[in-house]
Amino acid sequence: MELNMESTAYKKIGEEKQTAHSLLELIKIARWPKLALAWSIVFTLISAAFSLVLPIITGKLVDKISAMELTIQTAAVLISLFLAGGILNAVSSLLLRYVGSKFFQELRLKIWEKIIHLPVNYFDNNENGKIISRMTNDLAIVSNFLAITLPSILADVLMVTGCIIMLFVLDWRLMSVLVALIPITALLIYPIGRRMNRVAVEAQDAAADFSGELSKILYNIRFIKATTSEKLEMKYTREILGRIFRLNIKEGILSAVIEPIVTIIIMLALVGMFWYGSAGIAAGHITTGTLVSMIFYLFTMVSPLTQLSSFFSQYQKAKGASKEIYTIYNQQDEKQEKLGNVPDMKSHDQNSDILHFANVSFSYNQGQPVLSNVELTFRGGTTTAIVGPSGSGKTTIFSLIEKFYLEYNGEIYYNNVYLDKIRTEEWRRKISYVMQDSDLLVGSVRDNLVYGLNRDADDHEIYAALDTVGLKEVIYQLPDGLDTFVGERGVKLSGGQKQRIQIARCLLSDHEILLFDEATANLDSESEQLVHDVIKLLSKNKMTIVIAHRLSTIYKADQIIFLDKGEVTGVGTHHELMSWHDKYRDYVQFQLPTQLS
Ligand SMILES: Nc1ncnc2c1ncn2[C@@H]1O[C@H](COP(=O)(O)OP(=O)(O)OP(=O)(O)O)[C@@H](O)[C@H]1O
Ligand SMILES: [Mg+2]
Repeated sequence: MELNMESTAYKKIGEEKQTAHSLLELIKIARWPKLALAWSIVFTLISAAFSLVLPIITGKLVDKISAMELTIQTAAVLISLFLAGGILNAVSSLLLRYVGSKFFQELRLKIWEKIIHLPVNYFDNNENGKIISRMTNDLAIVSNFLAITLPSILADVLMVTGCIIMLFVLDWRLMSVLVALIPITALLIYPIGRRMNRVAVEAQDAAADFSGELSKILYNIRFIKATTSEKLEMKYTREILGRIFRLNIKEGILSAVIEPIVTIIIMLALVGMFWYGSAGIAAGHITTGTLVSMIFYLFTMVSPLTQLSSFFSQYQKAKGASKEIYTIYNQQDEKQEKLGNVPDMKSHDQNSDILHFANVSFSYNQGQPVLSNVELTFRGGTTTAIVGPSGSGKTTIFSLIEKFYLEYNGEIYYNNVYLDKIRTEEWRRKISYVMQDSDLLVGSVRDNLVYGLNRDADDHEIYAALDTVGLKEVIYQLPDGLDTFVGERGVKLSGGQKQRIQIARCLLSDHEILLFDEATANLDSESEQLVHDVIKLLSKNKMTIVIAHRLSTIYKADQIIFLDKGEVTGVGTHHELMSWHDKYRDYVQFQLPTQLS
């Protein structure tokens, strides 16, 4: 909602200026292949100049033919001129293509680099499918315009002006009449062009909506089936596709109106030229060659003129698309940290590390506090269990530790250094995080295990890690062992197995801080014991923080934190909390899935 309001407000503040500006900014973002661009412009200009002299030469030759003076040589000259013109044209369009593709690649890479470094809350507020559409459709429109239309427009303008000048030189009286047709054409086409732009921008939005809908459905396919919402989703999809269809037809109608206007005007000019020309030839004012040259010029003008008439609508399209892309590009990303000197946060030994939350309050959306005045201390070499009802803010604490969200009140510091002052990348390298609903990436078991690992790990080491989490046999028996594909296109693992793969990954990476968001229902009691042993193993000399749903985990923690509606209402050992914290006692007795045996 907020975003929508923002964008309408944004539209009101002089949209024109803002968007033209974003197109200019995008030109600056990507590195251009300068040499190829320069050559492509040179070739385009040469080929334009060539097209301008061809009609004159042809005219002269025609006069020679009428005077019966045509020799083999002149015919050969004519043919080679046409050939040379063709080659020039081919080279210049090939070069333009190169420049365009290179620019597209660069721009995509730059924007993608930006997106991948955007903070998590950007992805909370923007649909994946729309981001994908911006990356594909919109970027293609913009780079097509900047790298292909714009450079060739130079040649088009040159051609049209050149042709008009040449026609004037050949016969100014006729041309004065014909030139009057230009403003008339423009006047007829302009309003249609404007309509076309509006339609084009709407069509881009509809395309983005379509991608959004598709990715939503694919991502949630189980949920959609389980709730039998296929019909409802088909209704949405049908609506969007209907919108795209209507816009396509509208675009078709508009260009169907423009095309005949242009054709009729050209035909009129042609008829006028023939009529006037033949009268001129009869009266001896002009030669047949001159008339041929003039007709030739008229035809040479047609293609660049149509290009020019579509230029405006392409410009509008590109402007619309660039606005969306530039909005993304303009977001503050995680990389833009200006930290200056990063303070030294090392302590003498890992067991004296301290991570402290000082009066931290946080909300995802204004007015809905998720954490309130949280005061917490985590120590190296110890295990802390965070316990509390669903939605109390446990995972949120992990998100703040990971620096996923930066807009909180209060301070978080590590060994007396504010988290804000620590470079995000450096900080995250200290942490292993096993998420609550850990999905595997697409790739092999090995890929998932060594993901983010900044060193090589051999099979022996990897199997040892898998053995510790009790997965060695399972993986060993897979058709390709460690190289078996898992995830979307491969073997499917259960929720518990996935989380154990994540734990094995943490074993390999051996970071100082371990964050473990225990899955609520993924483990049977045997695996539970195993995972518990692993955590014990992992947490030696580490700062371990577990969001725990099992008494076995909670029981052995050095410190338990009870979180209730975003507030810390109790800190202590299991026995301490059992003795005085009523809610904790209730929680342990009635809400935990496994009782202590
Ligand atoms: N990305 C988000 N954007 C907006 N609100 C969020 C977001 N993530 C969580 N919340 C809200 O913040 C509150 C705390 O969520 P959190 O995930 O921290 O709970 P939790 O204690 O981990 O719960 P559970 O035990 O069910 O995992 C919830 O009310 C939730 O709706
Ligand atoms: Mg959670």
